[in-house]
Amino acid sequence: MSNTIQIKIQPAEKSRLDLVNFNQIEFGKVFSDHMFMADYSDGEWKNFKIVPYAPLSFMPGSSIFHYGQSVFEGMKAYKGQNGEISIFRPEINFERINASAERMCIPKIPKDIFMEGLTELLQIDKGWIPGLANTSLYIRPYIFAVDEYIGIKPSEKYKFIIFTCPVGPYYSKPLKVKIERKYSRAVHGGTGYAKAAGNYAGSLYPAKIAQENGYDQLIWTDGATHQNIEEAGTMNIMFMKGNTLITAGTGDTVLKGITRDSVLKIAKEWGVDIEERTISVEEIIKSLEKGEITEAFGTGTAATIAMIEVIADDNKEYTLPLPGPDSFSTRIFDELDQIKTGKKEDRHGWIYTV
Ligand code: COI
Repeated sequence: MSNTIQIKIQPAEKSRLDLVNFNQIEFGKVFSDHMFMADYSDGEWKNFKIVPYAPLSFMPGSSIFHYGQSVFEGMKAYKGQNGEISIFRPEINFERINASAERMCIPKIPKDIFMEGLTELLQIDKGWIPGLANTSLYIRPYIFAVDEYIGIKPSEKYKFIIFTCPVGPYYSKPLKVKIERKYSRAVHGGTGYAKAAGNYAGSLYPAKIAQENGYDQLIWTDGATHQNIEEAGTMNIMFMKGNTLITAGTGDTVLKGITRDSVLKIAKEWGVDIEERTISVEEIIKSLEKGEITEAFGTGTAATIAMIEVIADDNKEYTLPLPGPDSFSTRIFDELDQIKTGKKEDRHGWIYTV
Protein backbone atom coordinates (compact mmCIF):
# COMPACT_ATOMS: atom_id res chain seq x y z
CA MET A 1 0.00 0.00 0.00
CA SER A 2 1.50 3.38 -0.88
CA ASN A 3 1.23 6.16 1.65
CA THR A 4 -1.12 9.09 1.16
CA ILE A 5 0.55 11.12 3.91
CA GLN A 6 4.16 12.27 4.13
CA ILE A 7 5.73 11.09 7.38
CA LYS A 8 9.01 12.71 8.42
CA ILE A 9 11.16 10.15 10.17
CA GLN A 10 13.77 10.99 12.79
CA PRO A 11 15.25 7.72 14.01
CA ALA A 12 16.52 7.27 17.56
CA GLU A 13 20.29 7.65 17.76
CA LYS A 14 20.57 4.48 19.77
CA SER A 15 17.91 1.80 20.29
CA ARG A 16 17.05 0.88 23.88
CA LEU A 17 16.02 -2.62 22.78
CA ASP A 18 19.06 -4.38 24.23
CA LEU A 19 18.13 -3.07 27.72
CA VAL A 20 14.86 -5.03 27.72
CA ASN A 21 14.46 -8.43 29.32
CA PHE A 22 11.67 -9.93 27.22
CA ASN A 23 11.34 -12.85 29.65
CA GLN A 24 10.06 -10.49 32.31
CA ILE A 25 8.09 -7.59 30.96
CA GLU A 26 5.67 -5.87 33.24
CA PHE A 27 2.59 -4.47 31.54
CA GLY A 28 2.88 -0.79 30.62
CA LYS A 29 6.34 -0.10 31.99
CA VAL A 30 8.53 -0.56 28.93
CA PHE A 31 8.28 1.80 25.96
CA SER A 32 9.57 1.21 22.44
CA ASP A 33 12.04 3.51 20.68
CA HIS A 34 9.70 5.69 18.61
CA MET A 35 6.32 7.39 18.49
CA PHE A 36 4.15 8.72 15.67
CA MET A 37 2.79 12.27 16.07
CA ALA A 38 0.42 14.58 14.23
CA ASP A 39 -0.90 18.06 15.03
CA TYR A 40 -4.34 19.52 14.47
CA SER A 41 -4.74 23.25 13.94
CA ASP A 42 -6.63 25.55 11.57
CA GLY A 43 -9.12 22.74 10.93
CA GLU A 44 -6.68 20.11 9.63
CA TRP A 45 -4.30 17.36 10.70
CA LYS A 46 -0.69 17.99 9.69
CA ASN A 47 3.03 17.61 10.65
CA PHE A 48 3.18 13.82 10.48
CA LYS A 49 6.35 12.51 12.02
CA ILE A 50 7.98 9.56 13.73
CA VAL A 51 10.43 10.64 16.40
CA PRO A 52 12.24 9.03 19.35
CA TYR A 53 9.96 8.29 22.33
CA ALA A 54 10.87 11.25 24.55
CA PRO A 55 9.29 13.89 26.83
CA LEU A 56 6.98 16.48 25.29
CA SER A 57 6.66 20.01 26.48
CA PHE A 58 3.42 21.97 26.84
CA MET A 59 2.52 25.30 28.39
CA PRO A 60 1.05 25.02 31.91
CA GLY A 61 -2.14 26.63 30.59
CA SER A 62 -2.72 23.86 28.02
CA SER A 63 -6.31 22.77 28.32
CA ILE A 64 -5.52 19.06 28.56
CA PHE A 65 -4.13 19.60 32.06
CA HIS A 66 -7.32 21.23 33.28
CA TYR A 67 -10.30 19.94 31.36
CA GLY A 68 -9.27 16.43 30.33
CA GLN A 69 -10.32 16.59 26.68
CA SER A 70 -8.60 13.39 25.66
CA VAL A 71 -9.49 10.02 24.13
CA PHE A 72 -7.40 6.91 23.64
CA GLU A 73 -7.33 3.40 22.27
CA GLY A 74 -5.57 0.16 23.01
CA MET A 75 -4.68 -2.51 20.49
CA LYS A 76 -2.08 -5.22 20.12
CA ALA A 77 0.40 -6.46 17.52
CA TYR A 78 1.89 -9.95 17.41
CA LYS A 79 4.64 -11.74 15.58
CA GLY A 80 3.04 -13.96 12.95
CA GLN A 81 4.28 -17.45 12.02
CA ASN A 82 6.61 -16.11 9.32
CA GLY A 83 7.82 -13.14 11.35
CA GLU A 84 5.23 -10.79 9.84
CA ILE A 85 3.60 -8.09 12.00
CA SER A 86 -0.05 -8.93 12.76
CA ILE A 87 -2.33 -6.32 14.31
CA PHE A 88 -5.66 -7.49 15.73
CA ARG A 89 -8.67 -5.61 14.31
CA PRO A 90 -7.10 -2.10 14.16
CA GLU A 91 -9.87 -0.79 11.91
CA ILE A 92 -12.35 -1.23 14.76
CA ASN A 93 -10.05 0.74 17.07
CA PHE A 94 -9.92 3.42 14.39
CA GLU A 95 -13.72 3.60 14.32
CA ARG A 96 -13.94 3.59 18.10
CA ILE A 97 -11.41 6.38 18.67
CA ASN A 98 -13.49 8.55 16.36
CA ALA A 99 -16.72 7.63 18.16
CA SER A 100 -15.01 8.63 21.42
CA ALA A 101 -13.60 11.79 19.78
CA GLU A 102 -17.03 12.90 18.59
CA ARG A 103 -18.44 12.61 22.12
CA MET A 104 -15.55 14.66 23.53
CA CYS A 105 -15.71 17.37 20.81
CA ILE A 106 -12.34 16.29 19.45
CA PRO A 107 -11.82 16.40 15.65
CA LYS A 108 -11.88 12.96 14.03
CA ILE A 109 -8.65 11.44 12.85
CA PRO A 110 -8.78 10.42 9.16
CA LYS A 111 -8.24 6.72 8.42
CA ASP A 112 -5.10 7.20 6.30
CA ILE A 113 -3.36 9.10 9.12
CA PHE A 114 -4.33 6.49 11.72
CA MET A 115 -3.42 3.46 9.60
CA GLU A 116 -0.31 4.82 7.88
CA GLY A 117 1.08 6.26 11.11
CA LEU A 118 0.49 2.92 12.80
CA THR A 119 1.98 0.89 9.95
CA GLU A 120 5.13 3.00 9.63
CA LEU A 121 5.67 3.05 13.39
CA LEU A 122 5.38 -0.72 13.65
CA GLN A 123 7.75 -1.23 10.73
CA ILE A 124 10.36 0.93 12.45
CA ASP A 125 9.88 -0.67 15.88
CA LYS A 126 9.12 -4.24 14.77
CA GLY A 127 12.06 -5.51 16.81
CA TRP A 128 10.04 -4.57 19.91
CA ILE A 129 7.27 -7.11 19.21
CA PRO A 130 7.90 -9.89 21.70
CA GLY A 131 7.51 -13.46 20.53
CA LEU A 132 7.07 -15.40 23.78
CA ALA A 133 3.75 -16.92 24.88
CA ASN A 134 1.31 -14.39 26.40
CA THR A 135 3.28 -11.38 25.18
CA SER A 136 2.50 -8.78 22.52
CA LEU A 137 3.20 -5.21 21.51
CA TYR A 138 0.55 -3.00 23.10
CA ILE A 139 -0.30 0.02 20.95
CA ARG A 140 -1.61 3.21 22.47
CA PRO A 141 -3.08 5.82 20.07
CA TYR A 142 -4.50 8.94 21.74
CA ILE A 143 -5.66 12.46 20.97
CA PHE A 144 -5.59 15.36 23.38
CA ALA A 145 -6.33 19.08 23.48
CA VAL A 146 -3.38 21.48 23.52
CA ASP A 147 -4.88 25.00 23.36
CA GLU A 148 -3.32 27.32 25.90
CA TYR A 149 -6.57 28.67 27.23
CA ILE A 150 -8.50 28.94 30.48
CA GLY A 151 -12.22 28.44 29.96
CA ILE A 152 -14.60 25.68 29.00
CA LYS A 153 -14.82 25.27 25.25
CA PRO A 154 -13.44 22.71 22.80
CA SER A 155 -9.78 23.23 22.06
CA GLU A 156 -8.80 24.41 18.59
CA LYS A 157 -5.49 22.52 18.61
CA TYR A 158 -4.83 18.82 19.30
CA LYS A 159 -2.09 16.25 19.19
CA PHE A 160 -2.46 12.66 17.99
CA ILE A 161 0.23 10.27 19.20
CA ILE A 162 0.81 6.55 18.84
CA PHE A 163 3.41 4.82 20.98
CA THR A 164 3.92 1.17 21.76
CA CYS A 165 4.98 -1.03 24.69
CA PRO A 166 6.04 -4.67 24.69
CA VAL A 167 3.82 -6.30 27.31
CA GLY A 168 3.18 -9.48 29.22
CA PRO A 169 -0.20 -10.27 30.80
CA TYR A 170 -2.15 -7.38 32.36
CA TYR A 171 -3.55 -9.74 35.01
CA SER A 172 -1.25 -12.55 35.97
CA LYS A 173 -3.68 -14.54 38.12
CA PRO A 174 -7.45 -15.16 38.41
CA LEU A 175 -9.22 -12.11 39.81
CA LYS A 176 -11.13 -11.29 42.95
CA VAL A 177 -13.75 -8.72 41.98
CA LYS A 178 -16.28 -6.73 43.97
CA ILE A 179 -19.66 -5.60 42.68
CA GLU A 180 -19.69 -1.82 43.14
CA ARG A 181 -23.04 -0.64 44.53
CA LYS A 182 -22.22 2.92 45.57
CA TYR A 183 -19.99 4.68 43.04
CA SER A 184 -20.81 5.01 39.33
CA ARG A 185 -18.59 4.72 36.28
CA ALA A 186 -21.20 5.77 33.73
CA VAL A 187 -24.71 7.13 33.42
CA HIS A 188 -27.11 7.34 30.49
CA GLY A 189 -26.25 10.37 28.40
CA GLY A 190 -22.72 10.41 29.80
CA THR A 191 -19.38 9.35 28.34
CA GLY A 192 -19.25 5.72 29.52
CA TYR A 193 -19.13 4.23 26.01
CA ALA A 194 -16.19 6.45 25.03
CA LYS A 195 -12.56 5.72 25.81
CA ALA A 196 -12.29 9.13 27.38
CA ALA A 197 -9.42 9.73 29.81
CA GLY A 198 -11.72 11.11 32.52
CA ASN A 199 -13.73 7.88 32.71
CA TYR A 200 -10.61 6.13 33.95
CA ALA A 201 -9.62 8.91 36.38
CA GLY A 202 -13.08 8.76 37.96
CA SER A 203 -12.80 5.01 38.48
CA LEU A 204 -9.58 5.19 40.50
CA TYR A 205 -10.99 6.09 43.90
CA PRO A 206 -13.65 3.33 44.11
CA ALA A 207 -11.08 0.85 42.71
CA LYS A 208 -8.58 1.94 45.38
CA ILE A 209 -11.12 1.28 48.13
CA ALA A 210 -11.82 -2.17 46.66
CA GLN A 211 -8.08 -2.89 46.46
CA GLU A 212 -7.64 -1.89 50.10
CA ASN A 213 -10.27 -4.52 50.89
CA GLY A 214 -8.41 -7.21 48.96
CA TYR A 215 -10.08 -7.04 45.54
CA ASP A 216 -8.33 -6.70 42.19
CA GLN A 217 -11.11 -4.97 40.32
CA LEU A 218 -14.68 -3.72 40.46
CA ILE A 219 -17.71 -4.85 38.57
CA TRP A 220 -19.56 -1.62 37.83
CA THR A 221 -23.32 -1.49 38.14
CA ASP A 222 -25.62 0.96 36.36
CA GLY A 223 -25.39 4.51 37.65
CA ALA A 224 -29.17 4.95 38.11
CA THR A 225 -30.07 1.97 40.32
CA HIS A 226 -26.84 0.02 41.01
CA GLN A 227 -28.94 -3.11 40.43
CA ASN A 228 -27.55 -4.17 37.06
CA ILE A 229 -24.09 -5.33 36.07
CA GLU A 230 -22.33 -3.33 33.35
CA GLU A 231 -18.57 -3.80 32.91
CA ALA A 232 -15.34 -3.94 34.86
CA GLY A 233 -13.62 -0.73 33.70
CA THR A 234 -10.55 -2.44 32.31
CA MET A 235 -12.70 -5.02 30.52
CA ASN A 236 -16.21 -6.18 29.65
CA ILE A 237 -17.57 -9.01 31.73
CA MET A 238 -19.18 -12.33 30.77
CA PHE A 239 -20.83 -15.20 32.66
CA MET A 240 -21.31 -18.78 31.49
CA LYS A 241 -24.54 -20.33 32.70
CA GLY A 242 -25.25 -23.77 31.23
CA ASN A 243 -24.63 -23.34 27.50
CA THR A 244 -25.45 -19.63 27.63
CA LEU A 245 -22.91 -16.84 27.56
CA ILE A 246 -24.37 -13.75 29.20
CA THR A 247 -22.99 -10.24 28.96
CA ALA A 248 -24.39 -6.73 29.37
CA GLY A 249 -25.61 -5.02 26.21
CA THR A 250 -23.44 -2.06 25.24
CA GLY A 251 -25.65 1.03 24.84
CA ASP A 252 -24.13 4.32 26.03
CA THR A 253 -22.79 3.21 29.41
CA VAL A 254 -20.65 0.22 28.43
CA LEU A 255 -17.56 0.20 26.23
CA LYS A 256 -18.03 -1.63 22.91
CA GLY A 257 -15.16 -3.99 23.56
CA ILE A 258 -13.38 -5.43 20.54
CA THR A 259 -12.40 -8.57 22.45
CA ARG A 260 -16.02 -8.72 23.66
CA ASP A 261 -17.24 -8.69 20.06
CA SER A 262 -14.65 -11.28 18.98
CA VAL A 263 -15.59 -13.65 21.83
CA LEU A 264 -19.31 -13.36 21.05
CA LYS A 265 -18.74 -14.04 17.33
CA ILE A 266 -16.66 -17.17 18.00
CA ALA A 267 -19.00 -18.39 20.75
CA LYS A 268 -21.91 -18.19 18.32
CA GLU A 269 -19.95 -20.23 15.76
CA TRP A 270 -19.27 -22.82 18.48
CA GLY A 271 -23.01 -23.20 19.12
CA VAL A 272 -23.05 -21.34 22.43
CA ASP A 273 -26.25 -19.40 23.14
CA ILE A 274 -25.58 -15.70 23.53
CA GLU A 275 -27.54 -13.26 25.66
CA GLU A 276 -26.61 -9.58 25.47
CA ARG A 277 -29.00 -7.98 27.90
CA THR A 278 -29.61 -6.32 31.23
CA ILE A 279 -28.10 -8.55 33.93
CA SER A 280 -29.35 -7.93 37.43
CA VAL A 281 -26.96 -8.44 40.33
CA GLU A 282 -29.75 -10.42 41.99
CA GLU A 283 -29.84 -12.90 39.11
CA ILE A 284 -26.06 -13.36 39.20
CA ILE A 285 -25.97 -13.83 42.97
CA LYS A 286 -28.85 -16.35 42.91
CA SER A 287 -27.17 -18.24 40.06
CA LEU A 288 -23.85 -18.24 41.92
CA GLU A 289 -25.58 -19.55 45.03
CA LYS A 290 -27.17 -22.36 43.03
CA GLY A 291 -23.86 -23.15 41.29
CA GLU A 292 -25.44 -22.39 37.90
CA ILE A 293 -22.71 -20.00 36.83
CA THR A 294 -19.70 -22.08 35.99
CA GLU A 295 -17.41 -19.36 34.64
CA ALA A 296 -17.02 -15.61 34.87
CA PHE A 297 -14.35 -13.71 32.99
CA GLY A 298 -13.39 -10.32 31.67
CA THR A 299 -12.62 -9.53 28.03
CA GLY A 300 -10.39 -6.68 26.90
CA THR A 301 -7.41 -5.83 24.75
CA ALA A 302 -5.10 -5.43 27.73
CA ALA A 303 -6.86 -8.03 29.89
CA THR A 304 -7.37 -10.55 27.01
CA ILE A 305 -9.51 -13.21 28.75
CA ALA A 306 -9.18 -12.61 32.50
CA MET A 307 -10.56 -15.40 34.66
CA ILE A 308 -12.60 -14.36 37.70
CA GLU A 309 -12.25 -16.54 40.76
CA VAL A 310 -14.14 -14.59 43.42
CA ILE A 311 -17.13 -12.28 43.10
CA ALA A 312 -18.11 -10.28 46.17
CA ASP A 313 -21.35 -8.46 46.81
CA ASP A 314 -22.43 -6.87 50.06
CA ASN A 315 -19.48 -8.42 51.97
CA LYS A 316 -20.34 -11.91 50.80
CA GLU A 317 -17.91 -13.77 48.56
CA TYR A 318 -18.77 -16.35 45.93
CA THR A 319 -15.96 -18.53 44.66
CA LEU A 320 -15.97 -20.01 41.18
CA PRO A 321 -14.06 -23.15 40.23
CA LEU A 322 -10.88 -22.43 38.29
CA PRO A 323 -11.54 -23.10 34.60
CA GLY A 324 -10.13 -26.39 33.32
CA PRO A 325 -8.71 -27.02 29.83
CA ASP A 326 -12.19 -27.76 28.40
CA SER A 327 -13.85 -24.68 29.88
CA PHE A 328 -15.18 -22.02 27.53
CA SER A 329 -12.84 -19.35 28.89
CA THR A 330 -9.72 -21.49 28.41
CA ARG A 331 -10.80 -22.51 24.91
CA ILE A 332 -11.66 -18.97 23.82
CA PHE A 333 -8.39 -17.64 25.24
CA ASP A 334 -6.48 -20.25 23.18
CA GLU A 335 -8.58 -19.70 20.06
CA LEU A 336 -8.03 -15.94 20.07
CA ASP A 337 -4.34 -16.34 20.85
CA GLN A 338 -3.90 -18.73 17.92
CA ILE A 339 -5.74 -16.44 15.51
CA LYS A 340 -3.70 -13.41 16.64
CA THR A 341 -0.37 -15.21 16.26
CA GLY A 342 -1.27 -16.84 12.93
CA LYS A 343 -1.32 -20.40 14.31
CA LYS A 344 -4.96 -20.66 13.23
CA GLU A 345 -6.58 -19.43 10.05
CA ASP A 346 -7.89 -15.87 10.26
CA ARG A 347 -11.34 -16.87 8.99
CA HIS A 348 -12.95 -13.57 10.04
CA GLY A 349 -10.43 -11.24 8.40
CA TRP A 350 -9.42 -9.82 11.80
CA ILE A 351 -5.67 -9.72 11.22
CA TYR A 352 -4.12 -6.68 9.60
CA THR A 353 -0.70 -7.64 8.34
CA VAL A 354 1.99 -5.00 8.06
C1 COI B 1 -7.23 -1.85 26.92
O1 COI B 1 -7.75 -2.93 27.20
O2 COI B 1 -6.52 -1.73 25.93
C2 COI B 1 -7.42 -0.66 27.75
O3 COI B 1 -7.28 0.42 27.27
C3 COI B 1 -7.74 -0.84 29.17
C4 COI B 1 -6.73 -0.24 30.05
C5 COI B 1 -7.15 -0.53 31.41
C6 COI B 1 -5.34 -0.76 29.85
